[in-house]
Amino acid sequence: MHTLKIALQKSGRLSEISQELITEAGISLTNGKRTLIAHSSTFPLKVLYLRDDDIPQYVADGVANAGIIGEDVLRESEYPLEVVYRLGFSRCHLSIAVPKEQNYNGLKWLSGKRIATSFPKILRTFLAENQISAEIHFLNGSVEIAPAIGLADCIFDIVSSGSTLISNGLKEVETVMQSEAVLVAAPGLSDEKRAILDNFLFRIKSVLAARNNKYILLNAPNDKLDEICRALPGMKSPTIMPLALEGWSSVHSVLSENEFWGIINQLKEAGAQGILVIPIEKMIL
Ligand code: PRP
Ligand code: ZN
Repeated sequence: MHTLKIALQKSGRLSEISQELITEAGISLTNGKRTLIAHSSTFPLKVLYLRDDDIPQYVADGVANAGIIGEDVLRESEYPLEVVYRLGFSRCHLSIAVPKEQNYNGLKWLSGKRIATSFPKILRTFLAENQISAEIHFLNGSVEIAPAIGLADCIFDIVSSGSTLISNGLKEVETVMQSEAVLVAAPGLSDEKRAILDNFLFRIKSVLAARNNKYILLNAPNDKLDEICRALPGMKSPTIMPLALEGWSSVHSVLSENEFWGIINQLKEAGAQGILVIPIEKMIL
């Protein structure tokens, strides 16, 4: 029996959301994060829980076949992994942050400063591009406390909600790179593992699409149906069914989260009534 080994972050920004994705994809796992490895009885998958910064190397070495990590971590690692799919969640940025009382007045402020980071390669490239000479102080974790303990003047780190910065008295002053979660794979997977990965990706895409879409039902007088249908994109075209009430129909369709509010307003203006919006469990693309 072939199994695909996928590495997930043990704790941090990506851990909960990657775990949810796997559960929603119908893959149930044994004992979870207290152990390093979890198995599934419903899908040929093993999950390795690791520090996110270590995941690229584990995948490159073939200890894991795939992983879910931030693009930032992938870029810093410089391993030539395949980006199988951009997952669109855990969006964050890599930024320079300074103690909030500092009068930061642009990049030249960084000259001669000590910058603590877990992303020295990305930082070095950024500083070189901007012709700033500063001292890069590599730290493996807890970068945000470096200024307070006198180890550095500022930091270069991941900012997601920004709460880590706030609770450490820091403010974000330069955004260097945007990032989101990506599914990566080792180069040269066997055909068997590739087939499992494809199947896994198919499930993940269905879960993500369902999250980004809503099922919508509404009632409309028949003479408004044309206008209402024009406002609705739908997967193919909306479903229209007659109501028991003469001259009225029920219209069903699927709307993406982004276009949702705009379209709801158009529908109301066109005469739609009794609009219901329902979450979608899975959406097969
Ligand atoms: C990153 C970063 C911060 C935190 C920022 O940690 O190092 O600690 O996320 O998130 P926030 O803006 O929402 O507070 P990560 O999840 O990569 O864990 P690690 O530092 O242990 O690798
Ligand atoms: Zn990290």
